[in-house]
Amino acid sequence: MGMLKDKHVTLYVTGSIAAYKSALLTRLLIKAGAQVQVVMTAAATDFVTPLTFQTLSKRPVLTDLFTATEGDPIKHITVADWTDIALVAPATANILAKMAQGLADDAASSTLIATAAPKFVAPAMNKNMWANPATQRNVQQLRADGVLVIDPAEGFLAEGYSGSGRLAEPATIVAALEAYLQDHTPQPLRGKQVLVTAGGTREAIDPVRYVGNKSSGKMGYALARAARDLGAEVTLISSASLTTPHNVDLVPVVSAAEMETAVNTYFGASDITLMAAAVADFRPEAIVDHKIKKQDDTSTLDLHLVRTPDILAGLGKQKRADQFLLGFAAETNDLLQNVQKKLVAKGADMIVANDVSDTAIGFNSDANRVTLLKRDAEPEQLAMASKDEIAREILLRVCQQLHLA
Ligand SMILES: Cc1cc2nc3c(=O)[nH]c(=O)nc-3n(C[C@H](O)[C@H](O)[C@H](O)COP(=O)(O)O)c2cc1C
Repeated sequence: MGMLKDKHVTLYVTGSIAAYKSALLTRLLIKAGAQVQVVMTAAATDFVTPLTFQTLSKRPVLTDLFTATEGDPIKHITVADWTDIALVAPATANILAKMAQGLADDAASSTLIATAAPKFVAPAMNKNMWANPATQRNVQQLRADGVLVIDPAEGFLAEGYSGSGRLAEPATIVAALEAYLQDHTPQPLRGKQVLVTAGGTREAIDPVRYVGNKSSGKMGYALARAARDLGAEVTLISSASLTTPHNVDLVPVVSAAEMETAVNTYFGASDITLMAAAVADFRPEAIVDHKIKKQDDTSTLDLHLVRTPDILAGLGKQKRADQFLLGFAAETNDLLQNVQKKLVAKGADMIVANDVSDTAIGFNSDANRVTLLKRDAEPEQLAMASKDEIAREILLRVCQQLHLA
């Protein structure tokens, strides 16, 4: 999941009664994060107006080869080159025949033949049109040419009877694209167990109060998603209240002590451990078992704090040679020197340092600028970017260190 994010999908709508379903398909693709360029055949515009698709996709629809677009005289080539995935849905018997033959006599077929990107067709037609030997021959030819066919479903047809030829459901079509991208995206972490901690812990004072910190957990969640997208099995131990990423196992915790117990439970099975949580360094010595009352005769309350266990250093000691351990350091001064010391002292393989004194980055922001400190290598500063991008960069560096292709 999430594979369609920022992908350029060119959606070809052809002259089938199912063309109205492409409006929903456009919405689903956009919801999945894709950018969608719609191309329509002349017949398709008899079923649904380009205005519908233009509004949904927020891009002008390509319908005609010879109407010059300002500044872009060969629009069909521009669209073809822009495309990451071409999707013909619904695909008429006619467009299948044209694609199988290599015809290019309108905007849709000309753009398709100029497209080097992977092509999907989702046929939709009357059951006899679908069963016709010519159609089946064309589909076979398209498969042989490497076109991916999203088979039509059995079901009620617009003709008023049931049969094969009904357009696959829009959600099924989107899932087919996602699955393809998943299979064709390099997954260097496939088969690896990745453990991520995220969020700031809360150390109880009494049943309603706690000592906390400003960590939002966003960086840890971005790491969990990035590790998943690179193929890892991800366990996320979190004290944050963010949306659990799809296909990630969540272990919710509250305090530093709970975080430590959970980390120790999962660490043994973990290949790569990314400690992004902001674990409290101090906790109230004892938790008062009832809400502390405010007393009129006192103006102060003494809170006696004691050190919490250093989870990262604990892991550094028990780490096996085949395990990779990454820590985070939020420092506000003397940044890199402090962090280099931390790397050695904690037995970590990499430390990600961020200067949380800069309000444009760090804790609650969506962007981050970090410096990676490795053993026996110069510090590497990554450009300021979104936490998702930073997370991916960090994981790619970890893969590099581990010689994972
Ligand atoms: C009401 C109506 C519904 C149609 N539905 C389909 C259809 O579902 N599948 C199909 O292959 N052709 C269907 N056709 C025929 C195509 O519109 C026709 O073959 C057209 O030339 C296809 O052009 P295109 O492939 O350039 O879009 C339908 C025609 C009409 C009038």
